[in-house]
Amino acid sequence: MSEAVAEPEIIYDTLPPDAISDELAPVVDELGLRENCRQLAMEGYTVVEDAAPPEFNARLRDKIREISPEPEGETRGANLLLAKDAVFAEAALNPKIMAMAEFSVGRGFLITQIASSIMPKGPFAIRLHADSSWLPAPFPAHNTLLTACWTPDGYDKESGATLVIPGSGNLRRHPNAEETEAKAGAIAIEAPPNSVAMWDGNIWHANWPRQTDGERVVCHVAYTRLMMRPVEDYSAHADELIERYGKRMSQLLGREDFLYSAGGFDPALGIPTQNNAKR
Ligand SMILES: [Fe+2]
Repeated sequence: MSEAVAEPEIIYDTLPPDAISDELAPVVDELGLRENCRQLAMEGYTVVEDAAPPEFNARLRDKIREISPEPEGETRGANLLLAKDAVFAEAALNPKIMAMAEFSVGRGFLITQIASSIMPKGPFAIRLHADSSWLPAPFPAHNTLLTACWTPDGYDKESGATLVIPGSGNLRRHPNAEETEAKAGAIAIEAPPNSVAMWDGNIWHANWPRQTDGERVVCHVAYTRLMMRPVEDYSAHADELIERYGKRMSQLLGREDFLYSAGGFDPALGIPTQNNAKR
């Protein structure tokens, strides 16, 4: 005879985007993250200092260098990193960053991408964008994507920091061509060594070209809201279904966009995927 299982209590209300839940509040307070939560909600970005000890950051930096493909001296990166080394799983599971992710993209959030990059001195700069790249505007009031950028060495404007445009997140849309070119009002996120810079999916950002010697070594860990996950998992059937039905089935199963790639990211499909999201 089976015992009766108590029904879980139903939550009927929804918290506003800047609220810390009663369940998360003690964790946030214990980890000293209340000001980070406020800044992330109000300004769209924040920096969590000393998220992990220097020893961990050194290990993370060394591993990023080790796994990044040649050639040295050029901007380069790697992704699908959960599958590549335990140090990336440790970064993704870091208690302070997990607390910030729960605050920003909700309890039950998912990992969406872990990608590292190495950027030497030079003119390289990524195009201004919002990380909600696969959403049409207006973006929802509740954040859907949080990017946490581990910076073992820290960064500032001269060394190639992330560029953000304060207030742009309130527009809840993508920048247009002129705004992308002008980057009006841009500032640098200043992060000391052993810290994690993070920003929400709405704020417009890019990077400052690195003007100093050496290389900027970072790891971007991105978390997303539970809603973004398909309800059914066809991964065990996908190959057979696509073989039988072709390209449109491949699209339905997420294999025509850059998010699905044996290498973790297909650069040739980056812009087409983002364009799809706006149509
Ligand atoms: Fe981005």
